[in-house]
Formats: sequence, structure tokens, C-alpha cells
Amino acid sequence: MAPPTDSSPPILLFGASTPSGAALRDLASARELRVLGRRCPPDLAAERFVATDLTAPPPPGLPLGGVIISFAPLWHLAPFLAGLLQGTGARGAAASDRPKAVVACSSSSVLTKRFAANADDQALVRRLRQAETTLEEACQALAIPCRIIRPTLIYGEAGGYRDRNLSVLLTLMGRLPVLPLPSRTGLRQPIHARQLAAVSLLLADQPERWDGPLALGGDDTLTYTAMLERLQADARLQNPRDRAGRCRLLPVPAALFHLLAAPLLPWKPKLFEAVLRMEADLAGFTTAHSLLNTPAEPFPVHPLARG
Ligand SMILES: NC(=O)c1ccc[n+]([C@@H]2O[C@H](COP(=O)([O-])OP(=O)(O)OC[C@H]3O[C@@H](n4cnc5c(N)ncnc54)[C@H](OP(=O)(O)O)[C@@H]3O)[C@@H](O)[C@H]2O)c1
Repeated sequence: MAPPTDSSPPILLFGASTPSGAALRDLASARELRVLGRRCPPDLAAERFVATDLTAPPPPGLPLGGVIISFAPLWHLAPFLAGLLQGTGARGAAASDRPKAVVACSSSSVLTKRFAANADDQALVRRLRQAETTLEEACQALAIPCRIIRPTLIYGEAGGYRDRNLSVLLTLMGRLPVLPLPSRTGLRQPIHARQLAAVSLLLADQPERWDGPLALGGDDTLTYTAMLERLQADARLQNPRDRAGRCRLLPVPAALFHLLAAPLLPWKPKLFEAVLRMEADLAGFTTAHSLLNTPAEPFPVHPLARG
């Protein structure tokens, strides 16, 4: 294992086995970094891994100095970390044994699904809100800066880890000759995993750059249909014979589209609502490039994942 060459505070990383976690490891490759998770990423030296299940009691002697960054589900992370932080507070641990900052991913669903009609999405919003409050209060009690990021649709590939949303749509388009879509689709602001990782690292090192929860998106805002068209154009550019690039996107009047989706309602209410959400605007979030002070990156940012 090469010794760290960057003397910035060490990083404790949860959710390393995600595209964002892998991208963060890449961005912070010169830094001291430990991964906490259930499985050691295949390319990580064993001494950099601490086996940790967020739903079980923490392993003893977990080092908390440095900055904490998480891409794991917030409803697991928040009670786990809050318990650990309360323990350090009660022990009167030295400042060097306390985190300098905590950056954790929640989701823009907290905002976009708050009026959802189905019970699953309602429960998700409650779970995320509760977790955000738990983590913020635990950090506040020890005066540790806590930055909650609420990303929207995360896509892309990093370190062999792939997203499970746009890659699934690409696969679907590769299998279907025609894909019906509502004639007017809503806005999306997808964010690449590398952009999310870069913003997370920035806020871990400079938490003063943002105050309160950060609803975060990519640099481009485009309709759902335009997002699929750009994915298709990109697939054709890589390979003119790519089947995903040849799928016909068929605009269907809204009333007919609702009728086609209606059979889902009794047995898959969550999927039914997800299909109807194609018409909703889920955008207007802070752009990654405005925080990073970098040029805007048009959609799609590479590398892309294929399902
Ligand atoms: N995907 C999206 O479009 C989207 C949108 C908005 C917000 N988010 C949020 O952004 C973050 C990244 O999303 P994602 O979809 O890439 O990942 P995800 O599926 O939400 O999270 C998977 C990661 O969490 C870890 N994890 C799960 N349960 C764990 C446990 N009990 N103990 C330890 N680690 C555990 C997994 O590690 P193992 O290797 O141990 O399984 C894996 O690294 C998450 O916080 C997610 O809620 C995602």
C-alpha cells in the first residue's frame, strides 16, 4: 500500500461499494482513507478496511478522527453514528479523536416524494427526515459540522460499480423496439457519481461552503425524454449498431399513457406512481459545478454504466 502523500485529514468512508464511493476513493487516492462496510472492495488493501455493519453494534476502538463521508443509506448510518458520537462525547474524547466534519447522503426524495400517495414512498420520506434530524442533532451536540447532501438521480460507473437507474433504462431500450412515453415529460437533473463524490469531498474539507441540507443535481436540466435521447445518441456514438440507440421513443398523449399505466395501480402502486412521475419536474437543485467552481459538464458525463 503506497503511503498517503496528501496531509489533509484522514477520511472514514461508508458506502465505498457504490459508484460514488469508488469515485471518492479515486479522487482522494493520495489521502489516508479507511473504508467501513460489510464487504471489503476487491482492490482495497485489507489494512484500510474495517468490517462494519451499520445495523449492528459498532466494532470496538473505531477511530473517528478525520472527516466522515457516507454514501450508505442514511437511515442506517444516522443511528449508528449518533450512538458513536454520543459515546465519544460521554468519554470526553480529545478533539483529535472526534470527526472534524460529517458529510452524509440523504436524498432529494425528501422533497420530491413528500406528497406521494403510496405508503412506501411516504415511509421513505419519514425515514430520511428522521435520520437527517438524528445525525444533525448528534453532530450539533459536539459542535461537529454536519452536511447532509440530498442528491437527485445518481448515475455513472466508477471502480466497477454501476448505477441502477440510467443503466437499467439503457438496458430496457436495448431490449424494446419501441418505448412509449408521455408526450410531455418532466425535468430531470441527473448527477454523475464522480460529481457527487467531488462535492462530498469539498464539503468534508470546507464545510463552511454550505449551510443546511444541500439539494444537489448535475449541471444540465433536461426533460425525461431528452435525457433518454442523449443516452441513445451517446450509445450510437460508441457503437452505431447499439440496440439501445435504435429504440423508438413514442410520445403518447397523457390520458392514453395514464390508461396504459393504470393496470399497475392495484398491485404495484409504487411503480405506478414512479411511471406517473415521468411527467413531474424533479429539478431546480444546486448544480455540482457551481459549488466546485468548474465548467458545467453537459449530460451525460462519462463513464456511463450499462446494465
Ligand atoms: N441511486 C440514486 O439515484 C440515489 C438518489 C438519491 C440519493 N441516493 C443516496 O445516495 C447514496 C448512494 O446511493 P447508491 O444508490 O449508490 O447506494 P445505496 O444502494 O443506497 O447504498 C449502498 C451502499 O451502502 C452500503 N450499506 C448498505 N447497508 C449497509 C449496512 N447495513 N452496513 C454497512 N454498509 C451498508 C453498501 O455496502 P455493502 O457493500 O456492505 O452492501 C453500499 O456501499 C445513498 O445514501 C442513497 O440513499 C441515491
